[in-house]
Amino acid sequence: MSGILVFGNGWIGNKFIERYPEARMSTVMIEKPSDLAEVLEREEPDAVLNCAGLTGTPNVDWCETHQLETAMANTWLPIMMANECAKLGIHLTHLSSGCMFYGDSPDPKGWLESDFPNPAAYYSKTKAAADFVLADLKDVAIARLRIPMDPMPSAKNSITKIASYPKVIDVKNSVTVVEDLLDVLKQLIDKRAQGVFHVVNPEPLTYRDLMKWYEEIVDPNHKNEWITEEEMVSGGLTAKKRSTNVLQNTRLAEFGIQMRPTEEAMKDLLTKYAAYLNNK
Ligand SMILES: NC(=O)c1ccc[n+]([C@@H]2O[C@H](COP(=O)([O-])OP(=O)(O)OC[C@H]3O[C@@H](n4cnc5c(N)ncnc54)[C@H](OP(=O)(O)O)[C@@H]3O)[C@@H](O)[C@H]2O)c1
Repeated sequence: MSGILVFGNGWIGNKFIERYPEARMSTVMIEKPSDLAEVLEREEPDAVLNCAGLTGTPNVDWCETHQLETAMANTWLPIMMANECAKLGIHLTHLSSGCMFYGDSPDPKGWLESDFPNPAAYYSKTKAAADFVLADLKDVAIARLRIPMDPMPSAKNSITKIASYPKVIDVKNSVTVVEDLLDVLKQLIDKRAQGVFHVVNPEPLTYRDLMKWYEEIVDPNHKNEWITEEEMVSGGLTAKKRSTNVLQNTRLAEFGIQMRPTEEAMKDLLTKYAAYLNNK
């Protein structure tokens, strides 16, 4: 047995492979348990990182009209992975989402890993359903990320998305800087961590600050309007209200894992983002 095997040949899965080229990517589409068993028996990994799932194209509203496909990829697939990995003693790290929490948390400092989620969108329900089942399992870690921010412009990158909107919602959210996420995932795997982890940078980010730093560091000519969450839905910009929330990342410290302060990490990545655009 050796190494990390990644499932989910998409945006985050490939970011992990770029950062840790010693890890291997499975490109097999898993439709049934025997597909997975065959890959695991052939590859003999020590650990599996599950980055497979359906997030919807062009966005999560797609999941509202493709519910069973979404449930199979986001709920059934991770449960099947946990089962097949357990049979072979393989550690599983599963990528989940912090968007299963909506609105104000019981603790004013933010939602805890142990809090009961209140998902509204179908995508969020399928992610929460998998977490319920996996959260107590031995040798399974769940990494919940939110609004991933990356130095490389991409349709999946939340900076690229938010900067492209003429109207931006005036909210505060926990966010995940992808460079920090990749480091955390590797540590969770190496430490064979167990349970649920909020993998977000420590302080929440207001979109006002984000766009101020974007104008300072990336594009001084950038302009946008500000709207409320209610105006976003009533104006027809989205089908469902988006999750807006603050998460506390309390459990990473138990494993000696830290993420950079949000402002430091965001300014560093906006500087790299600008450098990429200038050198294109
Ligand atoms: N990106 C975000 O904003 C975000 C935020 C929070 C959490 N997450 C979570 O992070 C994970 C990765 O997201 P991502 O942005 O990297 O998504 P992505 O780019 O869409 O990658 C997901 C990959 O999983 C593959 N896949 C789907 N069903 C599969 C199956 N049955 N067997 C094997 N592969 C399968 C997809 O293949 P196809 O392309 O062929 O369908 C795709 O290549 C997801 O679980 C997502 O819920 C993402």
